[in-house]
Amino acid sequence: MSTSSDYSHALIRRPRRLRANPAMRELVAETALRPADLILPMFFADGITEAREISSMPGVYQHTEDSLLRAAHEALDAGVRCVDLFGVPVDADKDFNGSQAWSETGVLNRALASLRKEFGDDLLIMADTCLDEFTDHGHCGVVTEDRHGNAIVDNDATLPLYQQMAVAQARAGAHIVSPSGMMDGQIAAIRAALDEEGYQDVAIMAYSAKYASAFFGPFREAVGSSLQGDRRTYQQDPANLRESLLEAELDIAEGADFIMVKPALPYLDVLTRIADTSPVPVAAYQVSGEYAMIQAAGRNGWVDLDAVMMESLTSIKRAGANQILTYFAVDAARALRNA
Ligand code: PBG
Repeated sequence: MSTSSDYSHALIRRPRRLRANPAMRELVAETALRPADLILPMFFADGITEAREISSMPGVYQHTEDSLLRAAHEALDAGVRCVDLFGVPVDADKDFNGSQAWSETGVLNRALASLRKEFGDDLLIMADTCLDEFTDHGHCGVVTEDRHGNAIVDNDATLPLYQQMAVAQARAGAHIVSPSGMMDGQIAAIRAALDEEGYQDVAIMAYSAKYASAFFGPFREAVGSSLQGDRRTYQQDPANLRESLLEAELDIAEGADFIMVKPALPYLDVLTRIADTSPVPVAAYQVSGEYAMIQAAGRNGWVDLDAVMMESLTSIKRAGANQILTYFAVDAARALRNA
């Protein structure tokens, strides 16, 4: 019988050698986050006079114009180069088709304009291109009835509304529009409309693999969602991988400049599969529920908040993300600068 010391002579490969001290670990690190990888989602709201913290997302606010500009400056100072804007209209401004989405005076378009005026090209302004915040029923498109009398979101009737919305966002100053409504053909439709109006330079980040996820829960509070029912006829089934590959392929063929996987941590397998072959950059969205879970456990002292934040973001990048949308963007960028 061999003793443990006999056995140790056979250990030619000792992976622990490369973990021996911080310098060695740094030398062999394969993945490094950069502040410029991070995109900060932000909420701009009508009907408030001071910034309002979202209770299920500590540290995330519905902003007034003043607080939005201040928070965007803080993000840029920390090294974040891109923000993603969501608008929160008052209920009275919501209607059946979501017309404030393409109105120049709609809440989101005003936020885009004021950010672009303040920052020019120093900070990239990305816009959420979806109707759910603006419709009174909370769905991402035009609601009709199918032949059997069931309420459905009408794919092809929704596309012209997305076209108007994207053009209005480009006009307001968005560098990037990000269609998140999961209508078939939305990327081709939006690309054509932007080009037709002379916005060839405005990029499209396509939410390609977007799942009908319970991890969006806190976001619904953040935007005061009026959703009736669920989104399972247009967002993807968490059980499936193949359709994500198809969605990504279609969006690239339709002209997407970036594609995205969302949520992030529960879908790292999807992210990796898509990133392995994508000819365009692949983003991942660490969504509201992922953020809320980490915050909740951290605030309870059950996990080390900062360590879990950095580990989760590093893992998303390691899995294949080139850009990460995360509510931790500023905290993580600061941590990277101080490291
Ligand atoms: C749609 C949209 C949603 C999110 C981003 N864009 C909500 C949804 O699809 O229900 C969720 C983001 C998050 O949970 O952080 N406008």
